[in-house]
Amino acid sequence: MLSLAISLSLFLLFSIARAATADQWRGRSIYQLITDRFALPNGTDPSACDPAERAYCGGTWNTIRENLDYIQDAGFTAIWISPVNENYDGPRTVYGDAYHGYWIKDFSKLNNRFGTADDLKALVAELHRREMYIMVDVVINNVMSTSLKPDYSQYFFEDSSMYHPYCPIQWGNTTSEQTCWLGDTKVPLPDVNTSHPTVIAQYGDWIHDLVQEYQFDGLRIDAAKHVHVDFWPTFAAKAGVFCMGEVFSGVEVDPVAQYQGPQGLDSVLNYPMYTALVEAFGIPGPGNITAVSTVIEQSQNSFHDTTVLGNFLENQDVPRWHNISVDPQSLYNAMVLNFMMDGIPVVYYGQEQSFSGSSDPYNREPLWPSQYQQTDAYKFIQTLNQFRNYLVKTDWATQKTQILTASPYGIAVMKGKIISVVTNIGSPPRNGTDIAVKSPFESSSSMINILTCQQWVVGSRGYLDVQYTKGGQPVILAPADSLNDSGFCGNTLSTTVVGNSTRQNSAASSLHPWRLSAAALFIALTLHWAIKY
Ligand SMILES: *[C@@H]1O[C@H](CO)[C@@H](O)[C@H](O)[C@H]1NC(C)=O
Ligand SMILES: *[C@@H]1O[C@H](CO)[C@@H](O)[C@H](O)[C@H]1NC(C)=O
Ligand SMILES: *[C@@H]1O[C@H](CO)[C@@H](O)[C@H](O)[C@H]1NC(C)=O
Ligand SMILES: *[C@@H]1O[C@H](CO)[C@@H](O)[C@H](O)[C@H]1NC(C)=O
Ligand SMILES: *[C@@H]1O[C@H](CO)[C@@H](O)[C@H](O)[C@H]1NC(C)=O
Ligand SMILES: *[C@@H]1O[C@H](CO)[C@@H](O)[C@H](O)[C@H]1NC(C)=O
Ligand SMILES: *[C@@H]1O[C@H](CO)[C@@H](O)[C@H](O)[C@H]1NC(C)=O
Ligand SMILES: *[C@@H]1O[C@H](CO)[C@@H](O)[C@H](O)[C@H]1NC(C)=O
Repeated sequence: MLSLAISLSLFLLFSIARAATADQWRGRSIYQLITDRFALPNGTDPSACDPAERAYCGGTWNTIRENLDYIQDAGFTAIWISPVNENYDGPRTVYGDAYHGYWIKDFSKLNNRFGTADDLKALVAELHRREMYIMVDVVINNVMSTSLKPDYSQYFFEDSSMYHPYCPIQWGNTTSEQTCWLGDTKVPLPDVNTSHPTVIAQYGDWIHDLVQEYQFDGLRIDAAKHVHVDFWPTFAAKAGVFCMGEVFSGVEVDPVAQYQGPQGLDSVLNYPMYTALVEAFGIPGPGNITAVSTVIEQSQNSFHDTTVLGNFLENQDVPRWHNISVDPQSLYNAMVLNFMMDGIPVVYYGQEQSFSGSSDPYNREPLWPSQYQQTDAYKFIQTLNQFRNYLVKTDWATQKTQILTASPYGIAVMKGKIISVVTNIGSPPRNGTDIAVKSPFESSSSMINILTCQQWVVGSRGYLDVQYTKGGQPVILAPADSLNDSGFCGNTLSTTVVGNSTRQNSAASSLHPWRLSAAALFIALTLHWAIKY
């Protein structure tokens, strides 16, 4: 009995420190936000934020915490926040101030523009109380300077041997991309020497402590491709949580895929799919559906694990979807793929408000002028999240996406038992653009389009015919008998209560590991007490 107590205690010591893994993130859905732009403190002038100014607008960790209902009600089960560490705060540069958080000065300190350490901890605690995860953005590749000859005594790494000497990047030359400096001569981003043993050791200790101190559940790693891939496994092991790297690229899969796996990071942002979705669904655009089917096929061959990639349509570095594509249906169709195929959906704040700014800085609009309204896009995202949150209670998220049919007008994919049929024709009704989808279901079996709750009957030889005579809306078909306890389309919600949440469908699919550990600790302590006394 005593040994049982000891082994239980050991298990607990271990599990208390255990943070969220790729397996635990797979079923999550992420809302990405820039802390400075998400919400204002009470009493601040809401008209004073012009993205063109590139100045601090006033959002804080506290204001995120006060407005989490807006995110959780949309069905998200995680947030990704912009970098929290100390940034340049000197005279305004030609590119404005460091409101975005990527201009690192001393990464061992917090950026006091966004609040105190206690404010940040309160945000994390509130997210965990809601059974939501938090992913923090970290900048490892570089610091920021306003000179090509920085005074390194101001930075965490004080010795110039811990940086690569200045050179402008020669794009396409990998060595140059990894050792030369991002930025330009006006705002250079001195490149940290990530092969230096002291740098490796000190970054490792720092990230371990940062994650432990604030209880972060995951990391988004800025400019990961500008660091040699060999650096990442040790760093990620020290972090001890799910790591998603930014490997900015186009439609080619292999250069991105090499950063995912045991030799790199758990996950990367899915730039190849993003690029393909723009090519296939952007209106106006080439309407190249083949780009999507090619990326799906190549991804399954090349990526270590497609089911934990970060799928997105917008972020702080690319133009808003509606700056590329004017038709709302183009967004809905592309978004269905991001939610219903392999990968973790990532929605950039403001997308649910159909913001349409172009590239940096115009794609970093303040969210408050939207008054956080539950727009059509918000409700659409909410439906996708609620449906996916239901599906991820099963092994759906680990199943691989299959292509059922691709046509010049669209594509049908299947993951688990869910078939998604999307089109690039846009809002106007069209004849002659039907997609005949060969499904594995028996003819006459009953399917439900969860976006409309209309019933579909599978035709002869398993075919499902999708027509666009009323416009190019996406379709998500689930076998009717798979929805019994889903809360969708007249089915009652499962009575399984997760945590102390009365929300329908929007609760996270599993207990936060912290809570599990706390519960286990309680049991073990009780057991231990019972045995000892
Ligand atoms: C800000 O105002 C809202 C709505 O009036 C209120 O619920 C909230 O408690 C206020 N927050 C603070 C920090 O005063
Ligand atoms: C690539 O960049 C490195 C680092 O700047 C440089 O030493 C090397 O000569 C470059 N290679 C080519 C082929 O230009
Ligand atoms: C970077 O660190 C490595 C390992 O200590 C060292 O060999 C190299 O010279 C350093 N690079 C620079 C530019 O100091
Ligand atoms: C469509 O995408 C495929 C795959 O990326 C590519 O080979 C082809 O050239 C593209 N077609 C057009 C018209 O852009
Ligand atoms: C794209 O963004 C720019 C700058 O924010 C804006 O002037 C332009 O109107 C936008 N285009 C569309 C189609 O929304
Ligand atoms: C599609 O065909 C139907 C029946 O022939 C016709 O009534 C309708 O106007 C057509 N719609 C379009 C958008 O061409
Ligand atoms: C769901 O409904 C189908 C048919 O209506 C039934 O066969 C099945 O047992 C039900 N499943 C559950 C979990 O209730
Ligand atoms: C559950 O949450 C409700 C509303 O927040 C609260 O009133 C209630 O006390 C909570 N119950 C428990 C057992 O924590």
